[in-house]
Amino acid sequence: MSVEHRRQHEAIAILDFGSQYTQLIARRIREAHVYCEMFPWNTPPEQVLALSPRGFVLSGGPASVYAPGAPFLPEYVLAQEVPVLGICYGMHLLAAHLGGRVVRATDREYGAAEVRSVGPPNPLFDGLPALRVWMSHGDRVEALPPGFEVLACSANSPVAAMGHLARRLYGLQFHPEVVHTERGAELLRRFAVEICGCAPDWTPAAFIEQAVSTIRERVGDDDVVCGLSGGVDSAVTATLVHRAIGDRLTSIFVNTGLLRKGEPEQVVRTFREHLGMRLVAVDASEEFLEALSGVSDPEQKRRIIGERFIRVFEREARRLGHARFLAQGTLYPDVIESRGPERQSAARIKTHHNVGGLPEDMHFELLEPLRYLFKDEVRAVGEALGLPEEIVWRQPFPGPGLAVRVLGEVTWERLEILRAADSILLEELGAAGLLRGETQQAFAVLLPVRSVGVMGDERTYQYVLAIRAVTTEDFMTADWARLDHALLARISNRIVNEVAGVNRVVYDITSKPPATIEWE
Ligand code: XMP
Repeated sequence: MSVEHRRQHEAIAILDFGSQYTQLIARRIREAHVYCEMFPWNTPPEQVLALSPRGFVLSGGPASVYAPGAPFLPEYVLAQEVPVLGICYGMHLLAAHLGGRVVRATDREYGAAEVRSVGPPNPLFDGLPALRVWMSHGDRVEALPPGFEVLACSANSPVAAMGHLARRLYGLQFHPEVVHTERGAELLRRFAVEICGCAPDWTPAAFIEQAVSTIRERVGDDDVVCGLSGGVDSAVTATLVHRAIGDRLTSIFVNTGLLRKGEPEQVVRTFREHLGMRLVAVDASEEFLEALSGVSDPEQKRRIIGERFIRVFEREARRLGHARFLAQGTLYPDVIESRGPERQSAARIKTHHNVGGLPEDMHFELLEPLRYLFKDEVRAVGEALGLPEEIVWRQPFPGPGLAVRVLGEVTWERLEILRAADSILLEELGAAGLLRGETQQAFAVLLPVRSVGVMGDERTYQYVLAIRAVTTEDFMTADWARLDHALLARISNRIVNEVAGVNRVVYDITSKPPATIEWE
C-alpha cells in the first residue's frame, strides 16, 4: 500500500524498543480511531517521517538506558517538535537524553501499583482519579530533566509520570497499554487526540473509501486474482478489491475436502450469488485425499497440503490467463512479526503453512489492502462491507483444515464423521451465544482410537471424539473454556446419538502451554 494512502490520516508513530507490549500500544491508539504505525526504533528516519506523524510514542523495552549498546533516542524525533510520550524505557530515554538521571531502582516494581496525579494541571491526568496501573521496571527516573515536572507518583515511584508541558513531552513509568492499567486506554486516547491533536477519524468507512481508491489507482486496467479460503481476511480482501475493480477480479476457491460441513457451499453462495463476484470454485478433494493417503505424521500432512494447494492454485490461475496482481489478506501482525529477528519465536512448534499464501515461483505483484490492520479492525471493515456474520465472526481455522483434526491417517469416512460431530458442536455453541468472542476457538477432534460402549443391548466399539474449546487473547497462550455442564451434556448426547461411528465424547481440559490449541 502506498504511503499516500496512509498520509491522508493524522497519524502517530510508535517506535518499538522491544517491549512485549508494543503491539498493544498500537491497538489502543487505533481503538481511539487514530491511525498509528509501529517501527523498530532504528528504522531509517525517512521511512518513519513518510507518515508525517503528529506525535511519537516510545515503547518500553528490556534494556537499561546506560547499558553499552542499548537502543537510544534517535535525534530526528525531538527535532520534529511534535508531542512525545515515552512509556517505561521510553520515559527513561527521554529523561536520560534531556539531561535527567535514570538509576537502577532499589525496589524493583512489578505488577499492580496505585498512582496519584500530582503537580500542575495537565491534559494527560486532569480529572482522573487515583489509578491502579501495571508496572514492570527495574530502572527509574531519579532526577528530572530541566523543564519537566512530576505528574504522578506511586509508593515506589516518586516519578510515575513526568511531563514538559510547554514542549508536550510526557513520560509514564507504568504501562497504559495493558488491560490491567485502569483508564490506560483513556491516557493513550488523550495523548493521541488531545495532546497531538489527531482527529479520531480512523473508522472502517474511512478505511474502505481510501483502500478502494488506492487499489483502483494501483491496479489501473490490469487484472487481479485472489485466493478465497472462507476466512474473514481473504473475504474482506476480495470484497475490497471487488469494490474497486469489479469483474477484473477473479477469486479462486479451492475445496480441499478438508473443510467443515457446508463451508464450500457457503463460500460459493456468499461470493458468487450474494456479492456477485467472479469466482472459480475448484473441487480438488480427491486430489488432496489421494496425496494424504497413508500419511499420519502431522508435519508431513502440513507439507503435502501446502504444496498441493500451491499447485492447484497455480493451475487455476494459469487457466485464467495472466493477471498482474495477486490479492492477499496479510494482516499487520504478520508484517510486524516478519520484521525483526528479535520478534521471531525461536522454536518452531508447528509449521504454520499459510495455505492460500503466495505461490513462490509465480510472478505476481502483491496487493495487500489489510497490511496495516489488526484482526478486530478487519472484522469491523467486514461488517461495514456488509459481509455476512458467519464470515465476519468466523473463528480461526488452520490452513491444513480438518487434516490436523483427524488424528492419524485422513480418510473420507473419518472426515465425514468429524464434520458431522463438529457441526453439532458449533450449532450448540452458536445457540448458546458463544461463538462471537466468548470462546475464541472451538472444534472437534477425531481420535485414532476406539473404545467400548453399549447402545441398546449392543456392545459397540467405536471412535472417541474430543471437544476443544479455548479462551485466548492472542492464540499464543490459551485456557480451556469453562463451558456449562448442561451444554457439554447436550453436545455429548447429540453427537453420540446423531453421528454414527462415535460412542464416546471427551472434553479437553488442558491449557496452552503445555498443550497447543490444535491436537496435531
Ligand atoms: P496451536 O495449535 O499452535 O495453534 O496452539 C495456534 C493457532 O494457529 C492455528 N493453527 C494453524 N493455522 N496453519 C494455520 O494456518 C497451521 O498449520 C496451523 N496450526 C495451528 C490454530 O488453529 C490456532 O488458531
